[in-house]
This record gives sequence, structure tokens and C-alpha cells, in this order.
Amino acid sequence: MKRFNDIRSDRFNQGANMKAVLYHRYGDVNVLQMADIPRPVPEANELLIEIHAGSVNPIDWKLRQGALRLIRPLNLPAIPGFDVSGQVIAIGSNVRTFKVGDAVYARSNKKAGEASAEYIALPEDVVARKPSNMSHAEAAAVPLAGLTALQALRNLAHIRTDATLLVNGASGGVGSYAVQIAKALGVRTVVGVCSAANAELVRRLGADEVIDYKTADPLREHEYDVIFDAVSTLGMRAMGALRRGGIYISTLPGPVLALGNIIGLFGGKRARVIMVRPHGADLEFLRQMAEENKLMSVIDSEYTLEQIQSAHTASQAGRARGKIVIKIQ
Ligand SMILES: NC(=O)c1ccc[n+]([C@@H]2O[C@H](COP(=O)([O-])OP(=O)(O)OC[C@H]3O[C@@H](n4cnc5c(N)ncnc54)[C@H](OP(=O)(O)O)[C@@H]3O)[C@@H](O)[C@H]2O)c1
Repeated sequence: MKRFNDIRSDRFNQGANMKAVLYHRYGDVNVLQMADIPRPVPEANELLIEIHAGSVNPIDWKLRQGALRLIRPLNLPAIPGFDVSGQVIAIGSNVRTFKVGDAVYARSNKKAGEASAEYIALPEDVVARKPSNMSHAEAAAVPLAGLTALQALRNLAHIRTDATLLVNGASGGVGSYAVQIAKALGVRTVVGVCSAANAELVRRLGADEVIDYKTADPLREHEYDVIFDAVSTLGMRAMGALRRGGIYISTLPGPVLALGNIIGLFGGKRARVIMVRPHGADLEFLRQMAEENKLMSVIDSEYTLEQIQSAHTASQAGRARGKIVIKIQ
């Protein structure tokens, strides 16, 4: 049991309850239920955050369905949700970077996420200050999808400013940030792939060219240095559209990675999968981008915590234009 004097706050009410979304078994959206459960108590290195907004990512419903239970089994009951924007209301005794009252955002490091709730306790190294020019809803859209895009383009691709980049799924959560991050990093040519209805949006996000995947084949239009397949639909054919030394990055593991690397051997081409990591310093980087007006969130729709079933249903449809946000307090 944590001693109260290990925690610095004038608002921390130990033993108080909170509203949270809970599922007791894997299944469809109907397993998501509202519950009244004890608020988390922050460890010495943790912040207690009052969550103002969260967002839905496909991982939330994949975990809930049990699709990943062999590689990532959950301790049920579980609280879904990985994205958080809110206010620090208490800090553990070892926290150095943040103080009570700070507006922050984060990608949770918990196994099931635990962010579809009123409060969450997170270690300070996964948290960053919220972009001051974003609302909590806009900031909560960023962490998981924005970190995925940043870590794919910067850490895996080591993308250069003279590169030609293809972003497949450019109107979705990951893709909409990838287009903007690539332009903010100075990438010369960004080609976005989306359906015609989203073409204008993707152009506004900074894409130099937009290809409608329903009427044209983006892999026949150009040769690319980097193909970031945010929705993982291109498969092996992508290797043939890479220039010598190019890299194909997928968001989902699959046979294309092993086979793609064999096929790519002679052209020095590589195939990789991005596995996003919670990372406060990377979120600081994205905060600066946002405050320099180089990064914005596209909000597809907003739901309350009580409407979580509808929010998951909308994400599962696979047509989100930007991000699906959960407004909490
Ligand atoms: N490995 C990791 O660390 C990691 C991290 C984040 C996400 N992911 C995975 O990455 C995938 C994408 O995530 P997300 O959050 O970006 O999903 P999302 O926002 O739900 O994606 C929806 C978007 O995908 C577009 N889309 C659907 N089919 C398409 C196609 N055939 N070609 C081009 N665009 C298409 C839709 O546009 P239209 O309606 O116009 O078709 C829509 O805008 C998910 O499978 C997710 O689980 C993995």
C-alpha cells in the first residue's frame, strides 16, 4: 500500500473511485461496459493524470477481440485505450520533470492501454507537455499514431530530405501524421495514397501528389526511396516500386517482411515492420512541431466515454478520416 506522503498533490483523493471502460472477456463491442473502479495510485516515478480526452486506435479493438491473445495475452478485466491528454493532479516522490497542474499528453505503456477512463498513472518518461496550440481532443489524437509515423520515418527509414516517399493510407490516423511529419522533416516529395473523397484533405496536410487507390496503382506511378504502408495493403509488390537501397515499412508483421528482404537483397532493398514505442522525448519533438504549426490533428469524430462501443465500431469500419476521439472530462 502506498503511503500518502509519497505523493505530492493537493487534489489527490486516495481511495476515490473513477469511471472507466472495462471488458471482462474478449469479444465484440458489447463486452465494453462502464464501471466504477478505484482510481490508480501513482508509483514514485509516475504522474496521476486526470484524462480530458483519449482516442481510439485499431490496436484497441484488436486486443479486445482477442486477435493478439497468443502474442499479447491480457490480464482480464482490462481497460482499453492508449492515448491520453489531460492534467497532472498528483506526482510520485521521484518525479522531476512535471508538476501538479501541467497539461500533458502520452501514449500509455500499459499492456491493454488503460486510458479509456477518468484517470491514469503513467511513468514520467512516456509523458510530454501537451502542445499549447492544441485542444485536449486534438492532442489526444496524436500519441500512438503520431509516434508510429515519426518512429517509422525517422528511426527506421532514416528518411532523407531528397527522398521520394509514398504514404499508403494517408487519410487515416497514422498516415495523416506521416504526411505532415515527412514535410516537417523536409522530405522533398511526399506522395499520399487515399480515396478520392479524402484527396483534398491529404493535399492540405502537405502531400505533393495524391493518388486515388481506387482508380490508379501508386506502385506504377513512380519509384520510391521509402514506402510507408500505414494500412499494410501493398504487400510484396511494393518491393518492386523501390529504388535501389530503398525501404518498405509496414505497420503489420507478415510474410512480406521475410520474403521482401530476400527479394530485395540484390537491390539493397529492405522490408521492415514498425513497432511503436511509448516515448516522452519523441512526444516533445511532436509538441514542438505542433507549436510551429507543422502538425495538426484531423478529427474524424468525437464520442463520450459512455459511447465507447460506437467509437470502437467506427474505428473497426476502417474508414476513419483522421482520428476518432473520446472526450472524457
Ligand atoms: N505496428 C505498430 O506499432 C502500429 C501502430 C499504429 C497502427 N498500426 C496499425 O496500422 C494500421 C493503420 O492504423 P490507423 O490508425 O492509421 O488506421 P485507421 O485510421 O483506422 O485507417 C483508416 C484509413 O485507412 C484508409 N484506407 C483503408 N483501406 C485503404 C487502402 N486499401 N488503401 C489506402 N488507404 C486505405 C481509409 O481511407 P479511405 O476511407 O479513403 O479508404 C481511412 O482513412 C492498423 O492496422 C493498425 O493496427 C500498427
